[in-house]
Amino acid sequence: MTDWHAAYRERYKKLKETGKPFFPHVVFKDALVAAALLAALSWLAWRYGAGLEELADPTDTTYNPRPEWYFLFLFQALKFFPGQLEAVAAILLPGLFLAALALLPFLDRGPARHPADRPWTTLAGLGAIAGFAALTWAGYTSPMTNPIVERDPVALEGERLYRKLNCNYCHTLGGRGGKLGPNLDAVLGLHDEAWLTKHFRDPQALSPGSPMPKLNLLDDEIRALVAYLGALGGGPYSAEAPKLFAEHCAACHAVKGKGGDSGPDLTLIGSARDKIYLRRYVVDPSKLNPSSSMPGFADQLTDSQIEDLTRYLASLR
Ligand code: HEC
Ligand code: HEC
Repeated sequence: MTDWHAAYRERYKKLKETGKPFFPHVVFKDALVAAALLAALSWLAWRYGAGLEELADPTDTTYNPRPEWYFLFLFQALKFFPGQLEAVAAILLPGLFLAALALLPFLDRGPARHPADRPWTTLAGLGAIAGFAALTWAGYTSPMTNPIVERDPVALEGERLYRKLNCNYCHTLGGRGGKLGPNLDAVLGLHDEAWLTKHFRDPQALSPGSPMPKLNLLDDEIRALVAYLGALGGGPYSAEAPKLFAEHCAACHAVKGKGGDSGPDLTLIGSARDKIYLRRYVVDPSKLNPSSSMPGFADQLTDSQIEDLTRYLASLR
């Protein structure tokens, strides 16, 4: 036994002799720390708040589901188990771990308090902490399933308004919604932005007798709605577009059963991705998906050909 160890035991013995009762001394210390933590948390919540993600969208297949950092270890642990054994990682292992913690006072009955006096418990504790840290780090650095897409914030605001104002009560988008008004998938091809802006300001002025209500929207709200509708489809494509696809893309991609399979099937791509995304993907895939193996087409196709092609892709729903 080393000197420092003997000294520690000596000091501990003295402390025990002079000892202070749990109440009020220790309780007071605990309360002080708890109050300080509560104050810090309240201040953080008041000053910075907790950010929310974008509006949830059950039809969005491009979402990257990720837990908060303090659950990343569980998220990562799940990946080691095949589907049917999910319950082992999600319930059994955490249950055993918590049971071991609860039983610890009964399993480790030694009177010593210094970590060096309790090598097995200390080792097990350090091992658990290292395991959690390693799993958390692996979860944090594991690749996203979908490329991260930054959507135009104005169009996002438009999407929010579209739902808030219940436009889908009368209009369909991607096959969902009401039938009273026309389908809006490719409305920017029928009308330009100026028409839409005027129409949103006063539907009856442009379409006399229109049952579409005048919504008294602010200019910013109108701009957002126009951007949203524009990002979705963006209008009719020419007869050239499917030919361009057959010539440049079909070697790798199939549409309705025709084409290669070294790239994903694009038969329904328009319901998963909006036109802005598609356009950017065709121009330079590596910008959206660093591990992409698809070539970019900025050099091979002209700007208007790419526009035409992406309108066609956006219409594949
Ligand atoms: C009460 C039903 C109703 C609601 C609610 C409604 N609309 Fe309409 N909308 C119509 C009808 C009917 C038309 C066709 C007549 C016209 O052009 O006004 C129309 C036309 C349109 C057009 C022109 C489409 C075309 O092909 O000419 C757009 C764009 C549009 N609506 C967008 C919206 C948006 C965005 C909202 C939500 C803010 C909305 N509408 C709410 C019924 C509605
Ligand atoms: C050499 C094969 C190849 C060619 C040619 C090709 N692609 Fe791709 N494409 C891929 C592969 C592989 C992927 C899967 C992801 C990746 O590696 O980028 C992909 C992904 C995509 C995606 C993304 C799908 C998604 O869900 O995000 C789009 C959109 C797309 N391609 C469109 C096109 C278009 C349009 C053309 C023709 C102008 C084209 N591709 C030509 C191989 C190709």
